[in-house]
Amino acid sequence: MMKDVRRLALCGAPLAALLPTASLGATANDPATGQAIAQQWCASCHAVVPGAVSNEVAPSFEAVAQERDRSDEWLRTWLSVPHGEMPDLSLSRQDIDALVAYLQSLKTPPDQ
Ligand code: HEC
Repeated sequence: MMKDVRRLALCGAPLAALLPTASLGATANDPATGQAIAQQWCASCHAVVPGAVSNEVAPSFEAVAQERDRSDEWLRTWLSVPHGEMPDLSLSRQDIDALVAYLQSLKTPPDQ
């Protein structure tokens, strides 16, 4: 019946809206995108935003950016393989670029 077919077609739309938007159509090198991804996938272990209460599980991203002088390249390599008890997130290149951009944005200039 026509009615049933229409209802089926309508069902697809809300499902698509529920998909995480962080990695879909992400703009590479956008720190805001990286922060959204980090809050979704990394916050269970890492303190993602500056000033967030750090835990014993993993270094805060502020500390990673600040105290350890990690290059973009190093971070990219680090994020291309799972670490710790981290589930295999299979981050896309775009996700990684955005995460690296976010991590680097937490760095304050040395003379500050
Ligand atoms: C299940 C816990 C867990 C999750 C989830 C997790 N991490 Fe980690 N991460 C750790 C632990 C533990 C360490 C420190 C131990 C180590 O160096 O292996 C770490 C270290 C790091 C470091 C610092 C490496 C260094 O030595 O400077 C970076 C960068 C990092 N994680 C990024 C991320 C990003 C980005 C995500 C999300 C996509 C993420 N982590 C998700 C547990 C986790």
